[in-house]
Amino acid sequence: MTLHVAVIGSGPAGIYTAEALVKQSSEPVAVDVIERLPTPYGLVRYGVAPDHTSIKSIANYLRKVLELPEVRFLGGVTLGRDVSVEDLLGLYDAVVYCTGAMVDRRLGIPGEDLPGSVAATDFVNWYCGHPDVDPGRFTLDTSEVAVIGVGNVAVDVVRMLAKAADELRSTDVPHEALQRLGESEVKAIHMVGRRGPEHAKFTLKELRELGELANADVCVRPDEAAVLGGDFPRQVQGNIKVVREWAAREPVGRPRRLDVRFWLRPVEILGTERVEGLKLERTRLAEDGRVVGTGQFETLPVGMVLRSVGYQSVPLPGVPFSEKTMTVPNEAGRVRDREYVAGWLKRGPTGVIGTNKSDAAETVRTLLADLDGGARAGSGGIDTLLAERGVRPVSYDDWLAIEAAEAELARSLDRGERVKLVGLEAMLRAFRP
Ligand SMILES: Cc1cc2nc3c(=O)[nH]c(=O)nc-3n(C[C@H](O)[C@H](O)[C@H](O)COP(=O)(O)OP(=O)(O)OC[C@H]3O[C@@H](n4cnc5c(N)ncnc54)[C@H](O)[C@@H]3O)c2cc1C
Ligand SMILES: NC(=O)c1ccc[n+]([C@@H]2O[C@H](COP(=O)([O-])OP(=O)(O)OC[C@H]3O[C@@H](n4cnc5c(N)ncnc54)[C@H](OP(=O)(O)O)[C@@H]3O)[C@@H](O)[C@H]2O)c1
Repeated sequence: MTLHVAVIGSGPAGIYTAEALVKQSSEPVAVDVIERLPTPYGLVRYGVAPDHTSIKSIANYLRKVLELPEVRFLGGVTLGRDVSVEDLLGLYDAVVYCTGAMVDRRLGIPGEDLPGSVAATDFVNWYCGHPDVDPGRFTLDTSEVAVIGVGNVAVDVVRMLAKAADELRSTDVPHEALQRLGESEVKAIHMVGRRGPEHAKFTLKELRELGELANADVCVRPDEAAVLGGDFPRQVQGNIKVVREWAAREPVGRPRRLDVRFWLRPVEILGTERVEGLKLERTRLAEDGRVVGTGQFETLPVGMVLRSVGYQSVPLPGVPFSEKTMTVPNEAGRVRDREYVAGWLKRGPTGVIGTNKSDAAETVRTLLADLDGGARAGSGGIDTLLAERGVRPVSYDDWLAIEAAEAELARSLDRGERVKLVGLEAMLRAFRP
């Protein structure tokens, strides 16, 4: 008998889950990967920085999973809008939630909602061409920008702000965003960490790239680069070394300047109509390891603040959710009878793409052990349900038509391999002319 499983979300977690189901199951399986967007791959398409083409090419691996005969892609179908958990449990033997973490964490400081104070999630979505964000959303009409946070997303955002538009021409950045980046008035970027270089979350390879920017001088203050103690993991030692090297560098007059700052926490985003500055407080570590303020303040004269302090998941209607961990509570991936979870929704918004592979494999092991021999005859039938509700899913072939249209757009603009189509309508036109 065939085991029918619905996987919700087609990011790395969803696709690795589908792959693990096919590989691990001893009985035949049929997996429907249900995705709210018309396009698969989640943050690989709408998160990974456009200039990181080698990482983006992981999509070539993920596509092979979607092309397996046991796996079907159903795009443009949202759990909670087009189908409910109840519907799915009536149609499938099991459901695996893999909807990731789509929104930003908040800073909780005054001025956070002023125009010009922007969540990294929105800015990333913008330069990645996510259909949730208007392509005209950002005008980089300010000379100084602060990026709060020293994780890898902050590093991506800084690189995108620092590079010249010409350096991004061959990437898939939507054309309107590329034009806006070309008109950018940004001259100074301040990347601000609330602790020291030894605590920063960025990884060495990504950090080094900032030091190789052709369009920006990287500056660090020697006092902020100083690190006490020395027994750090290799990655951290590498980060500290790079930061120290930068502290010894002199700017050489590149068009933009990146100041990497440490031991400063944001206390207020200043301005009345829009952002006019960022007030920071110098910090230190208390004996219990907490970051505490020292009562010394400084203000950066920035017109834009990009808050890159992490992502978080949102609850799915009808699915348990912990407001404390902002994840779906689970035991090795099991949520409740026949309901499972994988990826960022399961363990929180940390880890690289590959982390989701072992994570999904764990969830699938739990699922298959629970359902051992439990597949029911006559599962499936979501097509009828969607048709009754007037929802026409985007098929894998439809997605290939979107890809072809993006390649054609790139050719017509004399840019790289693909240029993102922006907006749902443009994508739907690619296969429903
Ligand atoms: C900006 C950014 C850049 C990154 N860059 C890198 C990198 O360069 N290298 C690296 O290794 N890692 C990178 N990562 C980390 C990596 O992207 C994540 O580990 C990974 O994407 C998490 O996978 P996921 O499947 O859990 O979530 P996601 O990739 O977010 O996938 C979730 C999917 O679920 C869909 N969905 C959401 N809600 C619903 C719903 N209600 N119904 C149906 N579908 C739904 C979404 O549209 C999405 O397609 C980056 C992360 C971010 C945020
Ligand atoms: N190229 C890549 O491989 C790549 C690219 C992008 C993303 N990713 C991965 O995706 C995951 C998410 O990355 P991320 O950068 O969003 O998150 P992250 O790694 O958790 O970094 C978040 C940063 O925000 C800071 N922060 C949190 N709350 C703050 C506050 N209230 N005030 C000031 N600073 C605050 C954190 O500082 P504290 O440490 O002090 O809390 C940290 O520096 C990571 O696992 C990352 O490695 C990988």
